[in-house]
Amino acid sequence: MWCEVLYVGGFLVALIYYNFVWDILVFGVRMVEKTEDTDTVMDKGTEKMDAIAIDGPAGAGKSTIAKDLARCLEMTYVDTGAMYRAIAVWVGDNDADPADEAEVERLLEGITMSVGHEEGVQRVYLGDRDVTDRLRAEETGRIASVVSKYGAVRRKLVELQQQIAAKEPVIMDGRDIGTKVLPDAVLKVFMTASPDIRAKRRFDELMEKGIECDYDDILEDIKKRDHADETRTISPLKPADDAVILDTSDMTQDEVVEKIEKLYDELKGR
Ligand code: DC
Repeated sequence: MWCEVLYVGGFLVALIYYNFVWDILVFGVRMVEKTEDTDTVMDKGTEKMDAIAIDGPAGAGKSTIAKDLARCLEMTYVDTGAMYRAIAVWVGDNDADPADEAEVERLLEGITMSVGHEEGVQRVYLGDRDVTDRLRAEETGRIASVVSKYGAVRRKLVELQQQIAAKEPVIMDGRDIGTKVLPDAVLKVFMTASPDIRAKRRFDELMEKGIECDYDDILEDIKKRDHADETRTISPLKPADDAVILDTSDMTQDEVVEKIEKLYDELKGR
């Protein structure tokens, strides 16, 4: 009798063990197939999004180039910096302390942001208020640089940016477009230029507008913003692994546009 119980028990244990090993084997094979599938899709360049992601430090000329490209390629230009600046306007209008993350997070719940275009120019709305003309103020830029570090702010804006890009082909510029917002964009460009060149371009731009400024102050500010963008914990400024790095220090605006257009046409097989 005991012999039979032991025999049946042993048989059951062996069966359970066999099934367990079999399940692990099947699971392993499925995982390998899944990984290979994903790699194949990425290698062939299929299932990529019809979008161009342009990232880079402040003053690299991203927006000027992106606007030009959008016109040439008939795509919609999306300036994501303007969205961080709109949050800054909201924080300022509510007399909130930008350095108080919890307070900014609470304020976010009351924001309904939307983005539209008028004659190719991006407009940003908070509710039904058009705040576009207030976005470029120095103070707005300063607050934007503080609040763009917060996870809740980034989550809200990344979601909005992805919704916009899902509707139409876009050229989107910012700091985390290739790495976070549109990781499947057909083309990713990381545009850069030396700090001195960027400071000189900004200095010339302000002087042309008749705005009195100091080159050394501008250079100092650019270096500070680079450091803040590159060292923040969430989505720091860095090129995506598959981004084309474009140093525009010695290039004209036309040369940069031409180069990106050529890259895009090649990737689209045109
Ligand atoms: O590009 P800009 O100066 O308009 O950007 C305003 C601020 O927003 C700047 O501090 C960087 C930040 N920003 C960001 O963190 N991520 C983006 N995708 C775009 C801008």
